[in-house]
Amino acid sequence: MPTNYTAVFQDPKAVEKYAEETYAAGTFSSQVSRRQEEWLRGFVTEAFDTAPVHHDFACGTGRAMRMLEGVVAESHGYDTSEAMLSKARSIGTPGVLHHIGEIGGLPTSAKRPAIVTMFRLLLNASPQVRDRALEFAAGMLPDADAGVLICENHGHSRSLRKLRKVLGRPGDWFRELSHPEVEGLFERHGFELATVQGFTLLTRGFYERPPFKWVAPAVDSALARSRWGTRYASDVLYVARRM
Ligand SMILES: C[S@@+](CC[C@H](N)C(=O)[O-])C[C@H]1O[C@@H](n2cnc3c(N)ncnc32)[C@H](O)[C@@H]1O
Repeated sequence: MPTNYTAVFQDPKAVEKYAEETYAAGTFSSQVSRRQEEWLRGFVTEAFDTAPVHHDFACGTGRAMRMLEGVVAESHGYDTSEAMLSKARSIGTPGVLHHIGEIGGLPTSAKRPAIVTMFRLLLNASPQVRDRALEFAAGMLPDADAGVLICENHGHSRSLRKLRKVLGRPGDWFRELSHPEVEGLFERHGFELATVQGFTLLTRGFYERPPFKWVAPAVDSALARSRWGTRYASDVLYVARRM
């Protein structure tokens, strides 16, 4: 894992790789993202009587903002990387994109109801960045009726992904995050977990290598979102509220 995670995404090459390779059409990540989008849009429509204002912390190229287009009243994305924000603009992300600092005051808004998202951030971010992200969420969601926080963990520790470590091929970026660690982070910032939803049991390799790749997406799509699948999913979304 890079020592300064925030600096990684200042590099235009990392931005291009993220947008054009990691999330290219048909990739593992884009298929998981499509499942998340389907679930998220249904969740927001059911959970709120009036369309919420969306605040996406570490929005990057605006993936979550595009997922929620049309089901939220307004959308705001916040990120420390001008390069990521510029990519988000160039691919037509709806809403307002805000460049924020790594330290210092955080944006606030009194509009409610609100939904705060943070996707693909917690796993690789430092403890300081995780705390700052939760501080942002607590500011936007001051009480239990203000709305919900939805966070992605794309490296759940109790999943098949662990095989990479066990087999000795973890790679430079390999990190893991457990449910108790996430719950602990939530609790320290006055949030309690409401629900967890899984999106993939399998890992990227299964989607890329024959013969697995011929069946993996369909099998994974059918199983990962079940209650059992969610328990062992490598990628999950947590929904939390203020206590
Ligand atoms: C892996 S990308 C995820 C982007 C987007 N949320 C998604 O899921 O596609 C991580 C993002 O976190 C941003 N980031 C890193 N450190 C940050 C910080 N301290 N405050 C806000 N954003 C940060 C990066 O610039 C990058 O855009």
